[in-house]
Amino acid sequence: MDALLIHGGQTLAGEVRISGAKNAALPILTASLLTADTLELSNVPHLKDISTMLALLGHMGVRATPGAGNHVTLDGAAIPNREAPYEMVKTMRAAILVLGPTLARFGEARVSLPGGCAIGSRPVDLHIKGLQAMGAEIVIEHGYIHAKATRLKGAHIAMDVVTVTGTENLMMAAALADGTTVLANAAREPEVVDLAKCLIAMGAKIEGAGSGVITIQGVPELHGAAHRVMPDRIETGTFLVAAAMSGGKIRATHAQPDTLVSVMGKLADAGAHVTRGDDWIEVESDGVLNAVDVRTAPHPAFPTDMQAQFMAMNCIASGAASVTETIFENRFMHVQELRRLGANIEVSGHTALVRGVPQLDGAIVMATDLRASACLVLAGLVARGETKIERIYHLDRGYERIEEKLTQLGARIERVH
Ligand code: UD1
Repeated sequence: MDALLIHGGQTLAGEVRISGAKNAALPILTASLLTADTLELSNVPHLKDISTMLALLGHMGVRATPGAGNHVTLDGAAIPNREAPYEMVKTMRAAILVLGPTLARFGEARVSLPGGCAIGSRPVDLHIKGLQAMGAEIVIEHGYIHAKATRLKGAHIAMDVVTVTGTENLMMAAALADGTTVLANAAREPEVVDLAKCLIAMGAKIEGAGSGVITIQGVPELHGAAHRVMPDRIETGTFLVAAAMSGGKIRATHAQPDTLVSVMGKLADAGAHVTRGDDWIEVESDGVLNAVDVRTAPHPAFPTDMQAQFMAMNCIASGAASVTETIFENRFMHVQELRRLGANIEVSGHTALVRGVPQLDGAIVMATDLRASACLVLAGLVARGETKIERIYHLDRGYERIEEKLTQLGARIERVH
């Protein structure tokens, strides 16, 4: 199994080109199930989760042709197999996103239940309830969701928890339903907006994406379109934290600053100098940081996918700060590993109290999930001596060429087998 070896203590400086957003690309790839025409996508990142999704779509019948420079052409003319098997869903929860589009276009879908995952139980009950409200008959047996409907009907759906993929699944299903669907308490994440843009280009009638109420007027069919996937705000935020922690200066280019307002605000609170242009953000720091309190919540509040990285930053900041996780019940697995590097962290329920220490020390640590892995890389970059991060396959699910990008910025990092 691959590991990363990091020799800490380098100041990072330079420009880094941000890749397309994993969490926007995943639902947009599944939008290919909604039309018999061709979907031309650009800025699709090369990531494990993307290849898993392409394998699942290929298994169902979508023909995907990769082009030069992160282009993918998807042809969903024939979808003989309307099933997402357990083997594929268990490695990537986002596979649940094939449920809405497949059911809406073909009147049936069979998708494995995702089961538990490292960061909590993460149910899909709201996806199911929403589709039932639209007239789907859903039976859960043998670990599979089996959904049927002659044609879905528009409905008023109020979700009691804000769910990102739930909103996306229902928005795609409603695009082909008969009548108008209103999604209340919808997720306002930028990736929902990006999916809506792609669906609108395909002929869908959607208003309000990016707000808490999305209205979708169903149409009988959608057509092909071309769409460029938005930049990855979590990758961007991770590099910006790297600049702040290492006492360097990094400009993240091809980024979308308006999706990172809360993250930029927290970096400024920590004492970093943050500037931005239309499509870039720059962070400069002398490495002397104040600990900042963080509380995760749905967009536009602070993202749960940046919680672990800010925890790493607080570990070497002056003072103490609380990090509160409100979205997922078990998203502090990185705490144990950060402690192995010398961090001072106490956890009580959903809150971690981090007291800054003058220096972290390199050690062997283990990556436990995607963003926890990113936080260990950040900690390793500033730790004294060598840090070895094991089980880095998590990192490959969500960060495109991370060692290469960090090396270009001056880090000493290598992958070992
Ligand atoms: C998405 C992101 C993930 C991010 C998360 C929160 C993708 C592919 N993944 O995950 O990176 O961390 O949003 O921003 O976009 N819930 C229910 N019932 C449901 C669905 C969700 O109770 O039917 C709960 C979950 O357990 C969790 C909360 O809602 O506590 C938010 O989860 P959700 O927004 O659905 O996360 P994902 O869409 O899976």
